[in-house]
Amino acid sequence: MIKIAPSILSADFGRLAEETGKAEDAGADWIHVDVMDGHFVPNITIGPSMVAALRRATTLPLDVHLMISDPAQYIDRFIEAGADYLTIHIESNGDIPSILKAIREKGARPGLTLNPPTAVSRIVDMVHLVDLVLVMSVNPGFGGQKFIPSALPKLRTLRDAIDASGREVDLEVDGGINPDTLPEACRAGANVIVAGSAIYGSGDMKATISSFREICEKANEAN
Ligand code: DX5
Ligand code: ZN
Repeated sequence: MIKIAPSILSADFGRLAEETGKAEDAGADWIHVDVMDGHFVPNITIGPSMVAALRRATTLPLDVHLMISDPAQYIDRFIEAGADYLTIHIESNGDIPSILKAIREKGARPGLTLNPPTAVSRIVDMVHLVDLVLVMSVNPGFGGQKFIPSALPKLRTLRDAIDASGREVDLEVDGGINPDTLPEACRAGANVIVAGSAIYGSGDMKATISSFREICEKANEAN
């Protein structure tokens, strides 16, 4: 099943509750929340108190993407704030399998992601530990960047590994998604589509979300 996850990084930060509700009304499946610490990536965005505010603004699952150096220090606070999915980077510090396990034990769904320069072999054997695998198709830090095509073979490898595992694991793509890059990402196996600028920058969010869903379904049919 295709899920569309607007990234509120491209929303108006002065009205995040309203912007989140707008995405929900427009047919979004999840809300993607980009957490950046100014250390793992050269930008600073959202902390646990903002996630708690978003939790009050929507009933949709909050898909929290931690671009932070020390996830182990913060998972409790993000889960208490209401994160449904908590995704950490393989490049971040700490014992990644035990952080993923802790996320599950504390009641959230664990996700794992990798940056464009990182080899897919570093995470392919960890799909049994997670409910979500995220392939970054831009170098994280900012919205509105260009899609990096080396994400496509990674998606294919991870789709095969997920299917072989027999487990229900979502495969998400994040960065530079627009109507031109979306078909290939879907054909490569992504079923959760993050888009920031393409959704929040569009005049008609509802039409954009449903066209994204359609483009992805069509791409899959052609598979
Ligand atoms: C990038 C973030 C993305 C970002 C995507 O660091 O992880 O979620 O919001 O933005 P677009 O869709 O504009 O590339
Ligand atoms: Zn993200």
